[in-house]
Amino acid sequence: MSKESLTVIDNRTGKSYEIPITQGTIRAMDLRQIKVSEDDFGLMSYDPALENTASCKSRITFIDGEKGILRYRGYPIEQLAEKSNYLEVAYLLLHGELPTKSEYESWVYDITHHTFIHENIKKFMDGFRHDAHPMGMLLGTVGALSTFYPEAKNIFDENTRRKQIHRLIAKMPTIAAFAYRHSRGLPYVYPDNDLSYTGNFLNMIFKMTELKYQPNPVIERALDILFILHADHEQNCSANAVRAVGSSLVDPYSAVAAGIAALYGPLHGGANEAALRMLMEIGSKDKVPAFIKRVKAGEVRLMGFGHRIYKAYDPRAKIIKQTAYKVFEVTGLNPLLEIALEVERIALDDEYFIKRRLYPNVDFYTGLIYQSLGFPVEMFPVLFAIPRTSGWLAQWEEMLLDKDTKIVRPRQVYIGYDKRDYVPIEQRG
Ligand code: CMC
Repeated sequence: MSKESLTVIDNRTGKSYEIPITQGTIRAMDLRQIKVSEDDFGLMSYDPALENTASCKSRITFIDGEKGILRYRGYPIEQLAEKSNYLEVAYLLLHGELPTKSEYESWVYDITHHTFIHENIKKFMDGFRHDAHPMGMLLGTVGALSTFYPEAKNIFDENTRRKQIHRLIAKMPTIAAFAYRHSRGLPYVYPDNDLSYTGNFLNMIFKMTELKYQPNPVIERALDILFILHADHEQNCSANAVRAVGSSLVDPYSAVAAGIAALYGPLHGGANEAALRMLMEIGSKDKVPAFIKRVKAGEVRLMGFGHRIYKAYDPRAKIIKQTAYKVFEVTGLNPLLEIALEVERIALDDEYFIKRRLYPNVDFYTGLIYQSLGFPVEMFPVLFAIPRTSGWLAQWEEMLLDKDTKIVRPRQVYIGYDKRDYVPIEQRG
């Protein structure tokens, strides 16, 4: 008997089965042979939130939630945040290696030269209500991009894939900025190819009457660091949505739109918005203990705290906290910082949070930075979606080229009625 196996005894039948273990997992399909009778469907595993189910093999991002480790393609997030920039990280996620100088230059050129959007997309965006949520606008517009690039459906052609990847990474800040300007009733600002990826984004958001927008280098770099930290996070809700939808072999715009939809929710990318609203609701430092009491009573959740994977301090939150201080040197101190620090201080010392291993996550301090930069809360999930696009595309391409990929189609445990006959309406009680 192989040592790399699991012996299972089915107590219903007394039969024993040997199930191979590969890379710390058993194949769920190997359970199917465990049956009580010939016509039995076979055993399945029940895992509604996929908490203990590996849905793919991946080489992109590594997380050790117990130790608070995050690496992209093997490189520690701390080193990338200190030494790299977002576009280089996007290249790394998608290609598996850091680029050479010439690869980097041509990558930046390709992204920079796809930042414009078709004028009809601009008109399409004009159709949204004046108060439309920018994340809803981003979701709808990215989905609509597939109608502008019908060739994108040739997903097994490498050159076509590359082109859509350039387009998506390049156009995401433009669409995001247009969504923001639309909600403010401001004229759209076209991309400026002289500026960096984040510098140009700030230009499209904040430019007013000046002839040339000059981003503040501290803010430009801070945003770039935030983009690096948000670029990928292995099999989270939105990456899983992109992979699942992409497994039907749809074009990447539709798959990425699914990722944006998943990210919109308050338990995922909407948490930074929720965390900031929570800090505003608390209102002052002295009200923190009363709020924590409500959290412990189960009345509310402490937004920006806790994580499915991290049971230690989220390594991204550490970097963001340091970045926040640099931003506040330019923008002035955000008054909510005092409340956030008090929440963290009390929570990290409280038995409720210690026992459940709840620490600040990436969303706890990002909202403070975004607010200080002048972004309204509705833009927070959008600011998450822009950099996550490179991660989604890396996950999408890896899924597509994986020989194990099949259309995602989970099973269910049916607990509804057994067969029953139709009752005409006049006979129903
Ligand atoms: N505030 C208060 N209690 C919490 C919190 C929280 N933020 N998070 C978890 N708990 C408690 C929860 O009530 C439960 O307690 P008990 O065992 O007594 O029932 C225990 O901790 C385990 O919680 P869970 O809901 O089973 O944990 P989960 O892994 O399903 O949830 C989470 C993870 C992130 C959805 C959750 O921690 C949460 O809702 N946090 C607030 C929202 C948030 O900040 N989300 C951003 C996540 S990071 C960004 C991203 O990757 O998208």
